[in-house]
Amino acid sequence: MTTALITGSTAGIGAAFARRLAADGHNLVLVARDTKRLREQATELHDRHGIEAEVLTADLATEDGIAAVEERLGRRRDGVDLLVNNAGFGNKGRYLEVSLADELTMLKVHCEAVLRLTSAATEAMRERGRGGVVNVASVAAFVPRGTYGASKAWVVQFTQGAARDLAGTGVRLMALCPGFVRTEFHERAGMGTDNIPNWMWLDADKLVAAALADLARGKSLSVPDPRYKALMGVVKVTPRALLGGVTSRTGRKYGPQ
Ligand SMILES: NC(=O)c1ccc[n+]([C@@H]2O[C@H](COP(=O)([O-])OP(=O)(O)OC[C@H]3O[C@@H](n4cnc5c(N)ncnc54)[C@H](OP(=O)(O)O)[C@@H]3O)[C@@H](O)[C@H]2O)c1
Repeated sequence: MTTALITGSTAGIGAAFARRLAADGHNLVLVARDTKRLREQATELHDRHGIEAEVLTADLATEDGIAAVEERLGRRRDGVDLLVNNAGFGNKGRYLEVSLADELTMLKVHCEAVLRLTSAATEAMRERGRGGVVNVASVAAFVPRGTYGASKAWVVQFTQGAARDLAGTGVRLMALCPGFVRTEFHERAGMGTDNIPNWMWLDADKLVAAALADLARGKSLSVPDPRYKALMGVVKVTPRALLGGVTSRTGRKYGPQ
């Protein structure tokens, strides 16, 4: 039996990964900050699918939290075969409206934690000659979108570079770039979503199914769903100044200050 570790497993895209991987018979290590919610999730997945689900409470915005997950990923016994770096969040507001402390926390969770956890996992995977890492980025990686977009662009660049460097070792890495997905993300950030057209919303379970199929095909970049594949085609040929205007109008309407 193989083991998958998912950060941000208790909600949204991470919870969809947990459901799908448990249904496929993987044991799980579930990581987030809310212990009660993690325990409930572990019990439910164990009861429904007969898998072992371990709970690891960790705040990936802290040194101790990152170190605890690194330690789990580095274990040679009960090793982790698949890492899903999914934990993430949005900040409410545009540049200079968001505090520097919140911007730095985002870089810690989206970049430092992803770098350190990927490194801990892939070192152990390379020794075993097999393993996979899915780093959840965003289509925001491809448009001018402040620290959020920049952090996700880093995830894409880092993951594709590492995938190339580890080619032939049996370890696969893939950056996953979702469009808008109905999760707790926007509500947690206090972002209004009523200006996002219905057709732009993706379903988390379908997204995860497409992502895992792309990983199995050996892709290092996954943009699931034909709608977003087409949009990304348009983005590639659109001047960045124009893109900045369009993307700051779509999905960046914030709730009351
Ligand atoms: N939803 C979208 O439209 C969308 C689009 C593109 C990309 N994404 C990306 O997809 C990923 C998942 O987002 P989502 O939409 O599923 O969000 P979500 O529904 O808000 O879930 C976020 C998960 O991350 C955990 N988490 C947040 N901060 C954490 C921290 N400091 N340490 C550990 N765990 C933390 C949360 O649990 P706790 O609060 O208990 O820690 C929760 O399990 C993120 O990286 C996001 O940037 C989302």
